[in-house]
Amino acid sequence: MSIDYKAEIIKLKEKLPVTVVGHYYQRDEVFEMADITGDSLELARRCKADTNPWVVFCGVGFMGQSVKVIAPEKRVLMPKVACCAMARMIDGSYYDDSVNYMVERGIPKENILPITYINSDASVKAKVGEMGGMVCTSSNAYKIIEKGLESGKKILFVPDRCLGQNFANSMSLKSCVIGEGECDPKEADVICFNGFCSVHQLFTLDDIEFYRNRYPGIKIAVHPECDPAIVDAADFAGSTSQLIKYVNDLDPEQKVAIGTEYNLVNRMRQGNTYVLSSTKPECPTMNETTLEDLYLTLKSIEDEQPINEIVVDEHTVKYANLALERMLAIK
Ligand code: 13P
Ligand code: SF4
Repeated sequence: MSIDYKAEIIKLKEKLPVTVVGHYYQRDEVFEMADITGDSLELARRCKADTNPWVVFCGVGFMGQSVKVIAPEKRVLMPKVACCAMARMIDGSYYDDSVNYMVERGIPKENILPITYINSDASVKAKVGEMGGMVCTSSNAYKIIEKGLESGKKILFVPDRCLGQNFANSMSLKSCVIGEGECDPKEADVICFNGFCSVHQLFTLDDIEFYRNRYPGIKIAVHPECDPAIVDAADFAGSTSQLIKYVNDLDPEQKVAIGTEYNLVNRMRQGNTYVLSSTKPECPTMNETTLEDLYLTLKSIEDEQPINEIVVDEHTVKYANLALERMLAIK
């Protein structure tokens, strides 16, 4: 007899002191089961404020890790410990290499203010925290960079070169990417690590041209993980929550093509909403989590044999927490 996962999940959620969290990029059937949804910043804030001792996080690894770091007393489980491909691009030693790159080109370490996008491992956040730096997300990067600049230091931005460049451009700051052409830290305000999201690299200028030609007057809305040329050519760039708000505020007759992960775009207003790509922009890791995985994870709590628990060592929690709390303190 096959299991009705949805019904079983609902029963387990009623019985257990657990909060199910779901990022917008999750599959629809998993997303529907979540008690808390939002963009990365909202999820971090709301998980911290939540009172249940158990969190089951449907998303990618750095998201579950961040909850464990800001609320170490919680037991955090992930139905799939799927790692964001961008977060995988940098580890502690690549981070150290980036700091050394700047030091070797005449910027003393104490004059570097590191900012890491939340899409990074807790070990990288800890290094950033130890150096007095902060975490940012796609919804607050402007404010965080602005705050960082108050120190009068050079900003080292990791791991997403696109986010770093896009926000530097919107603030009329000079930026460069380590390993791409001449990147002289003395000449730039924001020095970016060369990481990127392969899903958001799928959106091209040809896609924008296609939609603008086909539907004159169409709006183009994209996530700031897209290439700077795409963000430049778009009408709006914002985090997942900001994209939802932008689209919801449009006149229902207004056509809009959206450049972000497929599950979210597909869930948005139908009819006049288009996916800004000829290739289906699916995040493979976000799509790994299934309803069965969620059921098995909740069942493991009931059976007192929790699976896929997120564990972060004390040193990492201490310093990654500093970097995350510095961000959360900025309203
Ligand atoms: P948001 O913070 O906008 O939810 O983005 C998370 C993410 O991974 C985008 O690719
Ligand atoms: Fe990471 Fe890109 Fe997937 Fe977001 S869409 S979780 S940045 S791989």
